[in-house]
Amino acid sequence: MDRPRIAWHEFASPDELAKALARDVADRLRKGLNARGGAVLAVSGGSTPGPFLTALSREQLDWVNVVVTLVDERFVPPSSDRSNEKLVRESLLVDEARLARFVPLYGEAGNVEAAARQAEAGLALLPKPFDVVVLGMGTDGHTASLFPDAGNFAELLDENRHDFVMPVHAPGAEEPRLTLPLARIVEAGFLALHIEGKEKRGVLDAAMEPGAPKPITAVLDAAPRPVPVYWTA
Ligand code: 6PG
Repeated sequence: MDRPRIAWHEFASPDELAKALARDVADRLRKGLNARGGAVLAVSGGSTPGPFLTALSREQLDWVNVVVTLVDERFVPPSSDRSNEKLVRESLLVDEARLARFVPLYGEAGNVEAAARQAEAGLALLPKPFDVVVLGMGTDGHTASLFPDAGNFAELLDENRHDFVMPVHAPGAEEPRLTLPLARIVEAGFLALHIEGKEKRGVLDAAMEPGAPKPITAVLDAAPRPVPVYWTA
């Protein structure tokens, strides 16, 4: 790789990071709204993005024409504390952003494969590529639900896939997952990675060393532009 894969943005505190990322995401959504009258945003769940989602919910923009969806979801109902939909409903779809339209990945279905087919039908109606995708990263180097031990890892990383949503079974994940595949992630107009803490910085540094690739490395390699990384210790 002979080009920079990331653009580093370091912040003095989680609060400063949350506000800056919210501002940058809102700017990109405004760009889409101005150009096409609508914009699509996919956000990650987990324990990191809460303050960013709250900051974004306060941004003034034409939310009624914004579609919000998820980068990935755990196969649990929205009542579960592990549900990314619950996080988004409680942290982002409030305040100014309460008017946005949410398209879930989770749906009641007998198994995660059927849920993925349902979600595919919902997401396939959205304009593509998405305007904004914000990723997180786990300490095993997974991003979205691209887990290194996923049974369908090669398919998840296949840059020629046309799917919007794929099911994932991985021993490293607590439950089956639904995820955007790499192809949908890297085509986003604005793709950002949000990580916090020294441990994750070390994981990212190690993942970019030759010979130790992780799922996050595959995303950075496939992205057409350096991916901005929003980081605070
Ligand atoms: C999820 C995610 C996932 C997350 C990382 C980091 O549903 O788990 O969307 O990709 O971004 O696992 O999670 P933390 O922020 O909890 O460390």
